[in-house]
Amino acid sequence: MSQYQSGFGNEFATEAIAGVLPHGQNSPQRVARGLYAEQLSGTPFTAPRVANRRSWLYRIRPSVVHEPFTPYRDAASLGDATPNQLRWDPFPIAADVDFVDGLLPICANGDASMTTGVSVSVYAAGRSMTDRIFYSADGELLIVPQHGALTIRTELGILEVAPGEIGVIQRGIRFRVEVPEGGARGYVCENFGALLRPPDLGPIGANGLANARDFLTPVAAYEDRDGAFELIAKFQGRLWRAALDHSPLDVVAWHGNYAPYKYDLRLFNAINSVSFDHPDPSIFTVLTSPSEIVGTANVDFVIFPPRWLVAEHTFRPPYFHRNFMNEYMGLIFGVYDAKAEGFVPGGASLHNCMSAHGPDAATFDRASSVDLKPQFLGETLAFMFESRFVLRPTQFALDAPQRQRDYWQCWQDLQKRFSPD
Ligand SMILES: [Fe+2]
Repeated sequence: MSQYQSGFGNEFATEAIAGVLPHGQNSPQRVARGLYAEQLSGTPFTAPRVANRRSWLYRIRPSVVHEPFTPYRDAASLGDATPNQLRWDPFPIAADVDFVDGLLPICANGDASMTTGVSVSVYAAGRSMTDRIFYSADGELLIVPQHGALTIRTELGILEVAPGEIGVIQRGIRFRVEVPEGGARGYVCENFGALLRPPDLGPIGANGLANARDFLTPVAAYEDRDGAFELIAKFQGRLWRAALDHSPLDVVAWHGNYAPYKYDLRLFNAINSVSFDHPDPSIFTVLTSPSEIVGTANVDFVIFPPRWLVAEHTFRPPYFHRNFMNEYMGLIFGVYDAKAEGFVPGGASLHNCMSAHGPDAATFDRASSVDLKPQFLGETLAFMFESRFVLRPTQFALDAPQRQRDYWQCWQDLQKRFSPD
Protein backbone atom coordinates (compact mmCIF):
# COMPACT_ATOMS: atom_id res chain seq x y z
CA MET A 1 0.00 0.00 0.00
CA SER A 2 1.29 3.45 -0.84
CA GLN A 3 2.35 5.70 1.97
CA TYR A 4 0.49 8.54 0.26
CA GLN A 5 -2.85 9.65 -1.13
CA SER A 6 -2.83 11.80 -4.24
CA GLY A 7 -4.60 15.13 -4.83
CA PHE A 8 -4.82 18.67 -3.50
CA GLY A 9 -7.37 19.59 -0.82
CA ASN A 10 -9.32 16.39 -1.34
CA GLU A 11 -11.65 14.87 1.22
CA PHE A 12 -9.20 12.15 2.25
CA ALA A 13 -10.06 9.16 4.45
CA THR A 14 -7.44 6.84 5.92
CA GLU A 15 -7.11 4.39 8.78
CA ALA A 16 -4.08 2.52 10.13
CA ILE A 17 -6.39 -0.09 11.65
CA ALA A 18 -9.21 -1.25 9.40
CA GLY A 19 -12.72 -0.41 10.58
CA VAL A 20 -11.81 2.46 12.91
CA LEU A 21 -13.28 5.33 10.86
CA PRO A 22 -16.92 5.98 11.80
CA HIS A 23 -19.41 5.62 8.99
CA GLY A 24 -21.95 8.34 8.27
CA GLN A 25 -21.01 10.60 11.18
CA ASN A 26 -17.96 12.33 12.68
CA SER A 27 -18.44 12.01 16.40
CA PRO A 28 -20.17 8.78 17.45
CA GLN A 29 -21.04 8.13 21.06
CA ARG A 30 -18.26 5.54 21.19
CA VAL A 31 -15.41 5.42 18.67
CA ALA A 32 -14.05 1.98 17.74
CA ARG A 33 -11.10 0.62 19.76
CA GLY A 34 -11.57 3.17 22.56
CA LEU A 35 -10.31 6.11 20.48
CA TYR A 36 -11.27 9.75 21.00
CA ALA A 37 -12.73 11.88 18.19
CA GLU A 38 -11.29 15.39 17.73
CA GLN A 39 -11.82 18.00 15.04
CA LEU A 40 -8.88 20.09 13.77
CA SER A 41 -10.11 23.26 12.02
CA GLY A 42 -7.63 25.01 9.75
CA THR A 43 -10.11 27.69 8.71
CA PRO A 44 -13.01 29.36 10.50
CA PHE A 45 -16.05 27.09 10.84
CA THR A 46 -17.86 29.49 8.55
CA ALA A 47 -15.31 29.69 5.73
CA PRO A 48 -17.02 29.12 2.38
CA ARG A 49 -17.11 25.51 1.31
CA VAL A 50 -14.44 25.96 -1.39
CA ALA A 51 -11.96 27.32 1.18
CA ASN A 52 -13.05 25.37 4.25
CA ARG A 53 -10.41 23.02 5.68
CA ARG A 54 -10.89 20.68 8.62
CA SER A 55 -10.13 17.11 9.52
CA TRP A 56 -11.55 14.66 12.04
CA LEU A 57 -8.90 12.76 13.98
CA TYR A 58 -9.46 9.47 15.84
CA ARG A 59 -6.73 9.24 18.43
CA ILE A 60 -5.52 7.40 21.51
CA ARG A 61 -5.72 10.53 23.71
CA PRO A 62 -7.19 13.93 22.87
CA SER A 63 -4.66 16.72 22.21
CA VAL A 64 -5.60 18.54 25.40
CA VAL A 65 -3.78 16.01 27.59
CA HIS A 66 -0.57 17.89 28.42
CA GLU A 67 0.87 19.95 31.28
CA PRO A 68 0.80 23.78 31.14
CA PHE A 69 3.07 25.60 28.70
CA THR A 70 6.03 27.65 29.95
CA PRO A 71 8.23 29.94 27.83
CA TYR A 72 11.03 28.17 25.94
CA ARG A 73 12.55 30.76 23.59
CA ASP A 74 11.81 34.42 22.95
CA ALA A 75 10.57 35.66 19.60
CA ALA A 76 13.32 36.60 17.16
CA SER A 77 14.14 40.29 17.37
CA LEU A 78 13.90 42.07 14.06
CA GLY A 79 16.53 44.51 12.87
CA ASP A 80 15.92 47.57 10.72
CA ALA A 81 14.30 47.14 7.34
CA THR A 82 16.84 48.05 4.69
CA PRO A 83 16.70 49.01 1.01
CA ASN A 84 20.12 47.40 0.62
CA GLN A 85 20.43 44.10 -1.20
CA LEU A 86 21.33 41.32 1.24
CA ARG A 87 22.92 37.94 0.63
CA TRP A 88 24.09 35.10 2.86
CA ASP A 89 26.36 32.06 2.62
CA PRO A 90 24.96 28.75 3.92
CA PHE A 91 24.70 28.32 7.68
CA PRO A 92 26.64 25.37 9.16
CA ILE A 93 24.92 22.26 10.53
CA ALA A 94 25.70 21.54 14.20
CA ALA A 95 25.70 17.85 15.14
CA ASP A 96 23.86 18.23 18.46
CA VAL A 97 21.03 20.48 17.27
CA ASP A 98 17.59 19.26 16.20
CA PHE A 99 15.10 20.84 13.79
CA VAL A 100 13.44 23.05 16.41
CA ASP A 101 16.64 24.41 17.94
CA GLY A 102 18.14 24.57 14.45
CA LEU A 103 15.49 26.98 13.16
CA LEU A 104 17.45 30.16 12.43
CA PRO A 105 15.16 33.17 11.96
CA ILE A 106 16.16 35.23 8.90
CA CYS A 107 13.38 37.73 8.16
CA ALA A 108 9.70 38.36 8.71
CA ASN A 109 6.83 40.67 7.88
CA GLY A 110 3.19 41.14 8.76
CA ASP A 111 1.92 39.92 12.09
CA ALA A 112 0.97 36.43 13.19
CA SER A 113 -1.67 37.93 15.49
CA MET A 114 -3.33 39.49 12.42
CA THR A 115 -2.93 36.31 10.34
CA THR A 116 -1.02 38.16 7.68
CA GLY A 117 2.58 38.04 6.47
CA VAL A 118 5.30 35.41 6.78
CA SER A 119 8.44 34.54 8.65
CA VAL A 120 11.40 32.98 6.89
CA SER A 121 13.92 30.72 8.62
CA VAL A 122 16.78 28.49 7.63
CA TYR A 123 16.96 25.16 9.42
CA ALA A 124 20.25 23.40 10.09
CA ALA A 125 19.72 20.16 12.04
CA GLY A 126 22.33 17.57 12.92
CA ARG A 127 20.14 15.17 14.86
CA SER A 128 16.62 13.81 14.92
CA MET A 129 13.83 14.82 17.26
CA THR A 130 12.90 11.73 19.26
CA ASP A 131 10.77 12.62 22.29
CA ARG A 132 10.02 16.15 21.21
CA ILE A 133 7.08 17.31 19.11
CA PHE A 134 6.54 20.72 17.50
CA TYR A 135 3.68 22.74 16.09
CA SER A 136 3.16 26.33 15.00
CA ALA A 137 -0.05 28.10 15.95
CA ASP A 138 1.23 31.11 14.00
CA GLY A 139 1.19 29.69 10.52
CA GLU A 140 1.58 27.01 7.94
CA LEU A 141 5.14 25.72 7.42
CA LEU A 142 6.45 25.35 3.89
CA ILE A 143 9.66 23.32 4.25
CA VAL A 144 12.20 23.37 1.41
CA PRO A 145 15.06 20.90 2.01
CA GLN A 146 18.38 21.82 0.42
CA HIS A 147 20.73 19.25 2.00
CA GLY A 148 19.75 15.89 3.50
CA ALA A 149 16.36 14.18 3.50
CA LEU A 150 13.79 14.70 6.25
CA THR A 151 11.38 12.19 7.72
CA ILE A 152 8.55 14.30 9.06
CA ARG A 153 6.35 12.29 11.41
CA THR A 154 3.09 14.19 11.70
CA GLU A 155 -0.14 13.46 13.53
CA LEU A 156 -1.70 12.57 10.20
CA GLY A 157 1.07 10.38 8.81
CA ILE A 158 4.67 10.33 7.63
CA LEU A 159 6.19 12.57 4.95
CA GLU A 160 9.59 11.67 3.49
CA VAL A 161 10.91 14.87 1.95
CA ALA A 162 14.24 15.05 0.13
CA PRO A 163 16.03 17.98 -1.52
CA GLY A 164 14.12 18.78 -4.70
CA GLU A 165 10.83 18.18 -2.88
CA ILE A 166 8.82 20.35 -0.49
CA GLY A 167 6.67 19.56 2.50
CA VAL A 168 3.79 21.63 3.86
CA ILE A 169 2.64 21.24 7.49
CA GLN A 170 -0.39 23.36 8.25
CA ARG A 171 -1.00 25.51 11.30
CA GLY A 172 -1.46 23.48 14.47
CA ILE A 173 -0.45 20.09 13.11
CA ARG A 174 2.01 18.40 15.45
CA PHE A 175 5.12 16.74 14.10
CA ARG A 176 8.69 15.77 14.73
CA VAL A 177 11.53 15.77 12.24
CA GLU A 178 14.10 13.03 11.80
CA VAL A 179 17.29 13.45 9.79
CA PRO A 180 18.00 9.92 8.51
CA GLU A 181 21.15 11.01 6.66
CA GLY A 182 22.63 12.51 9.84
CA GLY A 183 22.29 16.17 8.93
CA ALA A 184 19.91 18.41 7.07
CA ARG A 185 19.60 22.01 6.00
CA GLY A 186 16.91 23.92 4.17
CA TYR A 187 14.48 26.78 4.25
CA VAL A 188 11.14 27.34 5.98
CA CYS A 189 8.47 29.85 5.04
CA GLU A 190 5.93 30.19 7.84
CA ASN A 191 2.79 31.52 6.23
CA PHE A 192 0.56 33.48 8.62
CA GLY A 193 -2.02 34.18 5.89
CA ALA A 194 -4.47 32.17 3.82
CA LEU A 195 -3.52 28.55 3.22
CA LEU A 196 -1.19 27.87 0.32
CA ARG A 197 -2.73 26.47 -2.84
CA PRO A 198 -1.73 26.07 -6.48
CA PRO A 199 -2.47 29.28 -8.41
CA ASP A 200 -5.31 29.68 -10.85
CA LEU A 201 -4.18 28.98 -14.40
CA GLY A 202 -6.07 31.57 -16.46
CA PRO A 203 -5.28 31.24 -20.17
CA ILE A 204 -2.82 28.40 -19.46
CA GLY A 205 -5.89 26.20 -19.22
CA ALA A 206 -6.76 23.13 -17.20
CA ASN A 207 -3.27 21.65 -16.91
CA GLY A 208 0.22 22.81 -16.15
CA LEU A 209 2.49 24.20 -13.46
CA ALA A 210 1.93 22.02 -10.37
CA ASN A 211 -0.78 19.48 -11.19
CA ALA A 212 -3.13 18.55 -8.34
CA ARG A 213 -2.55 14.80 -8.70
CA ASP A 214 1.14 15.22 -7.84
CA PHE A 215 0.49 16.51 -4.31
CA LEU A 216 0.87 13.63 -1.87
CA THR A 217 -0.77 13.43 1.56
CA PRO A 218 0.27 10.68 3.98
CA VAL A 219 -1.95 7.82 5.04
CA ALA A 220 -2.64 7.45 8.76
CA ALA A 221 0.29 6.23 10.86
CA TYR A 222 0.42 6.41 14.65
CA GLU A 223 2.79 5.75 17.48
CA ASP A 224 1.59 4.31 20.79
CA ARG A 225 4.48 5.41 23.01
CA ASP A 226 4.31 6.30 26.69
CA GLY A 227 7.14 8.16 28.43
CA ALA A 228 8.51 11.66 28.91
CA PHE A 229 7.72 13.83 25.88
CA GLU A 230 8.07 17.54 25.29
CA LEU A 231 5.64 19.55 23.19
CA ILE A 232 7.09 22.76 21.71
CA ALA A 233 4.54 25.29 20.46
CA LYS A 234 5.22 28.40 18.42
CA PHE A 235 2.64 30.93 19.54
CA GLN A 236 2.84 34.63 18.64
CA GLY A 237 6.47 34.39 17.67
CA ARG A 238 7.60 32.84 20.91
CA LEU A 239 8.37 29.16 21.58
CA TRP A 240 6.65 27.45 24.52
CA ARG A 241 7.19 24.01 26.04
CA ALA A 242 4.85 21.62 27.78
CA ALA A 243 5.49 18.17 29.22
CA LEU A 244 3.31 15.20 28.41
CA ASP A 245 3.57 11.52 29.24
CA HIS A 246 2.92 10.10 25.78
CA SER A 247 3.56 10.78 22.13
CA PRO A 248 0.82 13.00 20.71
CA LEU A 249 1.41 11.44 17.27
CA ASP A 250 -1.31 8.95 18.18
CA VAL A 251 -3.92 9.44 15.46
CA VAL A 252 -5.02 5.98 14.31
CA ALA A 253 -7.43 7.17 11.61
CA TRP A 254 -8.56 10.46 10.14
CA HIS A 255 -10.67 11.95 7.41
CA GLY A 256 -10.88 15.45 6.02
CA ASN A 257 -9.20 18.02 3.80
CA TYR A 258 -6.80 19.66 6.30
CA ALA A 259 -3.68 17.54 6.06
CA PRO A 260 0.03 17.90 5.34
CA TYR A 261 1.40 17.17 1.89
CA LYS A 262 4.58 16.90 -0.11
CA TYR A 263 5.34 17.76 -3.70
CA ASP A 264 8.23 16.78 -5.96
CA LEU A 265 9.42 19.93 -7.72
CA ARG A 266 10.70 17.77 -10.61
CA LEU A 267 7.07 17.21 -11.55
CA PHE A 268 6.49 20.95 -12.08
CA ASN A 269 5.34 21.56 -15.65
CA ALA A 270 7.38 24.66 -16.49
CA ILE A 271 5.87 26.98 -19.09
CA ASN A 272 8.06 29.52 -20.81
CA SER A 273 8.47 31.65 -23.92
CA VAL A 274 8.83 29.89 -27.27
CA SER A 275 9.25 33.16 -29.19
CA PHE A 276 11.12 36.00 -27.49
CA ASP A 277 11.63 37.58 -24.04
CA HIS A 278 10.62 35.67 -20.97
CA PRO A 279 7.50 35.85 -18.87
CA ASP A 280 7.61 37.33 -15.39
CA PRO A 281 8.74 34.73 -12.82
CA SER A 282 5.15 34.37 -11.62
CA ILE A 283 4.87 31.85 -14.50
CA PHE A 284 6.78 29.48 -12.19
CA THR A 285 4.45 29.79 -9.17
CA VAL A 286 4.04 26.46 -7.39
CA LEU A 287 1.87 27.64 -4.48
CA THR A 288 0.26 30.92 -3.52
CA SER A 289 -1.24 32.34 -0.35
CA PRO A 290 -3.67 34.94 -1.69
CA SER A 291 -4.48 38.13 0.19
CA GLU A 292 -7.69 40.13 0.21
CA ILE A 293 -6.32 42.19 -2.72
CA VAL A 294 -6.72 40.40 -6.04
CA GLY A 295 -3.37 39.36 -7.53
CA THR A 296 -1.39 40.51 -4.49
CA ALA A 297 -0.13 37.45 -2.69
CA ASN A 298 0.57 37.27 1.01
CA VAL A 299 3.30 34.98 -0.29
CA ASP A 300 4.04 33.13 -3.51
CA PHE A 301 6.35 30.14 -3.67
CA VAL A 302 8.09 30.34 -7.03
CA ILE A 303 10.78 28.04 -8.44
CA PHE A 304 13.35 28.38 -11.20
CA PRO A 305 13.46 24.75 -12.35
CA PRO A 306 15.49 22.94 -15.00
CA ARG A 307 14.09 24.05 -18.38
CA TRP A 308 14.82 24.77 -22.00
CA LEU A 309 15.75 28.30 -22.99
CA VAL A 310 14.82 28.93 -26.61
CA ALA A 311 13.84 32.61 -26.83
CA GLU A 312 15.42 34.31 -29.84
CA HIS A 313 17.18 37.71 -29.86
CA THR A 314 16.57 37.87 -26.12
CA PHE A 315 18.59 38.55 -23.00
CA ARG A 316 17.79 35.22 -21.41
CA PRO A 317 18.81 35.48 -17.74
CA PRO A 318 16.51 37.25 -15.31
CA TYR A 319 16.36 40.92 -16.28
CA PHE A 320 17.39 43.91 -14.22
CA HIS A 321 14.38 44.96 -12.25
CA ARG A 322 12.76 46.69 -9.31
CA ASN A 323 9.69 45.17 -7.80
CA PHE A 324 6.67 46.06 -5.69
CA MET A 325 6.97 42.64 -4.10
CA ASN A 326 9.68 41.54 -1.68
CA GLU A 327 11.86 38.63 -2.71
CA TYR A 328 13.65 36.14 -0.47
CA MET A 329 15.54 33.73 -2.71
CA GLY A 330 17.39 30.47 -2.06
CA LEU A 331 19.27 27.91 -4.13
CA ILE A 332 18.63 24.18 -3.70
CA PHE A 333 21.24 22.93 -6.17
CA GLY A 334 23.23 23.98 -9.20
CA VAL A 335 23.88 27.46 -10.52
CA TYR A 336 21.37 30.29 -10.77
CA ASP A 337 21.50 31.87 -14.21
CA ALA A 338 21.64 35.50 -13.05
CA LYS A 339 24.78 35.14 -10.94
CA ALA A 340 28.26 33.96 -11.91
CA GLU A 341 29.33 33.40 -8.31
CA GLY A 342 28.48 34.16 -4.68
CA PHE A 343 24.96 32.70 -4.68
CA VAL A 344 25.58 29.10 -3.68
CA PRO A 345 23.35 26.16 -2.72
CA GLY A 346 22.12 26.71 0.83
CA GLY A 347 22.72 30.44 0.55
CA ALA A 348 20.06 33.10 0.14
CA SER A 349 19.39 36.67 -0.91
CA LEU A 350 16.82 39.28 0.07
CA HIS A 351 15.71 42.05 -2.28
CA ASN A 352 13.03 44.23 -0.75
CA CYS A 353 10.48 46.57 -2.31
CA MET A 354 12.03 48.63 -5.14
CA SER A 355 15.59 47.51 -4.30
CA ALA A 356 17.27 47.16 -7.66
CA HIS A 357 18.80 43.82 -8.58
CA GLY A 358 19.53 41.56 -11.52
CA PRO A 359 22.40 39.81 -13.24
CA ASP A 360 25.91 40.52 -12.08
CA ALA A 361 28.46 42.03 -14.45
CA ALA A 362 30.00 38.71 -15.52
CA THR A 363 26.58 37.27 -16.34
CA PHE A 364 25.52 40.37 -18.26
CA ASP A 365 28.64 40.29 -20.39
CA ARG A 366 28.25 36.61 -21.19
CA ALA A 367 24.51 36.61 -21.87
CA SER A 368 24.48 39.74 -24.03
CA SER A 369 27.15 38.42 -26.40
CA VAL A 370 26.55 34.65 -26.46
CA ASP A 371 25.46 32.95 -29.70
CA LEU A 372 21.83 32.00 -28.91
CA LYS A 373 20.89 28.37 -29.45
CA PRO A 374 18.29 26.20 -27.76
CA GLN A 375 19.86 25.46 -24.40
CA PHE A 376 18.81 23.11 -21.63
CA LEU A 377 19.39 24.71 -18.26
CA GLY A 378 19.63 21.39 -16.43
CA GLU A 379 21.60 21.72 -13.25
CA THR A 380 19.65 24.34 -11.36
CA LEU A 381 16.84 24.66 -8.84
CA ALA A 382 16.35 28.04 -7.19
CA PHE A 383 13.23 29.32 -5.47
CA MET A 384 11.67 32.50 -4.17
CA PHE A 385 9.34 33.37 -1.30
CA GLU A 386 7.79 36.53 -2.71
CA SER A 387 5.61 38.61 -0.38
CA ARG A 388 3.52 41.77 -0.60
CA PHE A 389 5.07 43.17 2.63
CA VAL A 390 8.65 44.32 3.19
CA LEU A 391 10.68 41.58 4.86
CA ARG A 392 12.55 42.84 7.90
CA PRO A 393 15.79 40.94 8.53
CA THR A 394 16.33 39.62 12.03
CA GLN A 395 19.18 41.07 14.04
CA PHE A 396 20.63 37.55 14.02
CA ALA A 397 20.70 37.49 10.20
CA LEU A 398 22.16 41.01 9.97
CA ASP A 399 24.94 40.19 12.43
CA ALA A 400 25.69 36.69 11.11
CA PRO A 401 29.19 36.16 9.70
CA GLN A 402 27.45 34.43 6.78
CA ARG A 403 26.08 37.77 5.55
CA GLN A 404 28.11 38.93 2.56
CA ARG A 405 29.00 42.52 3.35
CA ASP A 406 30.39 42.97 -0.19
CA TYR A 407 27.31 41.70 -2.10
CA TRP A 408 26.71 45.13 -3.67
CA GLN A 409 30.03 44.93 -5.48
CA CYS A 410 28.82 42.21 -7.88
CA TRP A 411 27.08 44.93 -9.93
CA GLN A 412 29.79 47.62 -9.80
CA ASP A 413 31.65 46.29 -12.86
CA LEU A 414 28.64 46.95 -15.08
CA GLN A 415 30.17 49.44 -17.49
CA LYS A 416 28.75 52.43 -19.24
CA ARG A 417 28.19 51.17 -22.78
CA PHE A 418 26.21 54.10 -24.16
CA SER A 419 27.35 55.84 -27.27
CA PRO A 420 25.13 58.62 -28.74
CA ASP A 421 26.76 58.24 -32.17
FE1 LIG B 1 13.81 39.73 -8.49
